[in-house]
Amino acid sequence: MAQLKVFALLVCVSLCAFNAVADEGKAAAPAKSTTFNVGSYGVKADGKNDDSNGFLKAWEAACKSSGKVKIQIPNGTYKLGPIVFSGPCPNVTTLSIVHKGIIKASTNLGKYKTDAWIEFSGVTGLRISGGGTFDGQGESTWSQNSCSKQKNCQALPVSVKFINTNDTVVKKIKSINPKFFHMAVIGCQKFRGSSLTLEAPETSPNTDGIHLEKSTDVKITDTDIRTGDDCISIGHGNADLVIARINCGPGHGISIGSLGKYAYEKDVKGLVIRDINITGTLNGVRIKTWEDSPVSTVVANITFQNITMKNVSNPIIIDQMYCPWKNCGTKAPSKVKLSDILFNGIRGTSATPVAVTLICSQGYPCKNVSLKNINLKYINGSDATAVCAHVNPSYSGTVLPKTCTAPITTVSSSTNEF
Ligand SMILES: *[C@@H]1O[C@H](CO)[C@@H](O)[C@H](O)[C@H]1NC(C)=O
Ligand SMILES: *[C@@H]1O[C@H](CO)[C@@H](O)[C@H](O)[C@H]1NC(C)=O
Ligand SMILES: *[C@@H]1O[C@H](CO)[C@@H](O)[C@H](O)[C@H]1NC(C)=O
Ligand SMILES: *[C@@H]1O[C@H](CO)[C@@H](O)[C@H](O)[C@H]1NC(C)=O
Ligand SMILES: *[C@@H]1O[C@H](CO)[C@@H](O)[C@H](O)[C@H]1NC(C)=O
Ligand SMILES: *[C@@H]1O[C@H](CO)[C@@H](O)[C@H](O)[C@H]1NC(C)=O
Ligand SMILES: *[C@@H]1O[C@H](CO)[C@@H](O)[C@H](O)[C@H]1NC(C)=O
Ligand SMILES: *[C@@H]1O[C@H](CO)[C@@H](O)[C@H](O)[C@H]1NC(C)=O
Ligand SMILES: *[C@@H]1O[C@H](CO)[C@@H](O)[C@H](O)[C@H]1NC(C)=O
Repeated sequence: MAQLKVFALLVCVSLCAFNAVADEGKAAAPAKSTTFNVGSYGVKADGKNDDSNGFLKAWEAACKSSGKVKIQIPNGTYKLGPIVFSGPCPNVTTLSIVHKGIIKASTNLGKYKTDAWIEFSGVTGLRISGGGTFDGQGESTWSQNSCSKQKNCQALPVSVKFINTNDTVVKKIKSINPKFFHMAVIGCQKFRGSSLTLEAPETSPNTDGIHLEKSTDVKITDTDIRTGDDCISIGHGNADLVIARINCGPGHGISIGSLGKYAYEKDVKGLVIRDINITGTLNGVRIKTWEDSPVSTVVANITFQNITMKNVSNPIIIDQMYCPWKNCGTKAPSKVKLSDILFNGIRGTSATPVAVTLICSQGYPCKNVSLKNINLKYINGSDATAVCAHVNPSYSGTVLPKTCTAPITTVSSSTNEF
């Protein structure tokens, strides 16, 4: 009897426990976490054989699944792509890719039919984390980049591109040596990037850190960017962006633009760029628009705040006469309208005597540009200077350099950037 009771109890313990697990699974069905390990889909993980098939199978399985799903990329070296991970994944609430490996790109440019190496397209609820690395292997292709020299060129592939994704979180991920940009965020809504490390040599062409375009509600925070072109470049059609707690440099700084090159461009509105260190870069914070733009867009409500410059060639620069090639054709003024721009708490050193350059459009002078608490010195300790055209900035707090004089020559830089 006593034995029977114990037996019944044991049966119950195991069955009831089993039921409890099963019930939990059932009750939480939409939120159940299902894991797909790329290791179970025939990847070689030797860094030489192309693992694209295995990755695609894992993605398809995850995307067809439901609730919270996870793709595990274990420690190892993978060779991948070019590859497109596309949605929609209709029954998936979040799709987490836990990347703990090193993923290498092919160096055969003939394999790339689009402008990206790894593309995530049309998916909602994507999460990428894990501390892994995307290695674009750009060292062997940078010399084939003609875009740094001429206007009509075939751009090399971006390492990681997000296009039309909603509710995306990318954190604790590293990108090295992209062929072109490290990351591009195009047409995305609600994008969060944090604790990213983006690295390429100072001399690598067009290796922008993060390029943003046509996106809304974006936050890029706590990120280190050492690269050859803009740390962050903000293209047309963006609204409601926060860029904060970034270490930038070497590179070309944080740039809005270039804008006003194409007729399809849209406005840029509502940007906060704050709490940033910019070290040894060509520009610090910049807005640049093309001369003779085919369209009249608006760039408005932009705040640059609490930024420390160390030995930056152009710490603060608005350049509405952008023309990287000697002859840009007709020299009509830029039609891009700049307004409500605040530079607040910008300090440190300039690598050139001119620390502040505000060259607005003769056709559409900048409106409501404010300089507040600015303290920029030339790197040797001397006072720096400021040049202005077609702008009447307002000043508050201590502003050094303050007196804004007309430029002696136009400022257009001679390298083509994106
Ligand atoms: C999503 O779930 C619905 C209902 O369970 C099902 O009919 C449909 O086939 C699922 N879609 C996909 C892509 O799995
Ligand atoms: C990943 O694997 C490499 C070599 O196989 C090893 O050196 C490294 O410590 C591993 N990293 C982690 C985080 O396990
Ligand atoms: C993202 O959101 C926009 C606006 O709500 C919507 O038009 C678009 O279809 C969504 N994209 C995806 C992949 O769900
Ligand atoms: C910028 O540099 C200062 C001084 O080295 C440091 O305290 C601060 O944390 C840095 N900012 C970021 C975003 O890392
Ligand atoms: C300016 O942009 C900020 C940040 O995106 C936003 O909160 C604010 O509402 C905008 N102000 C106006 C007047 O549009
Ligand atoms: C300025 O930015 C630094 C990070 O570079 C941050 O530690 C500090 O708290 C910020 N200061 C203010 C007043 O926001
Ligand atoms: C400042 O940057 C220039 C290059 O732009 C470099 O030659 C110089 O050594 C740097 N100075 C300091 C003090 O870091
Ligand atoms: C000027 O721009 C600031 C933001 O930098 C904004 O708060 C203010 O309302 C604007 N002033 C006018 C008169 O539009
Ligand atoms: C800094 O350099 C400028 C330009 O070369 C020179 O005029 C100035 O005297 C220098 N200042 C110091 C403190 O060395």
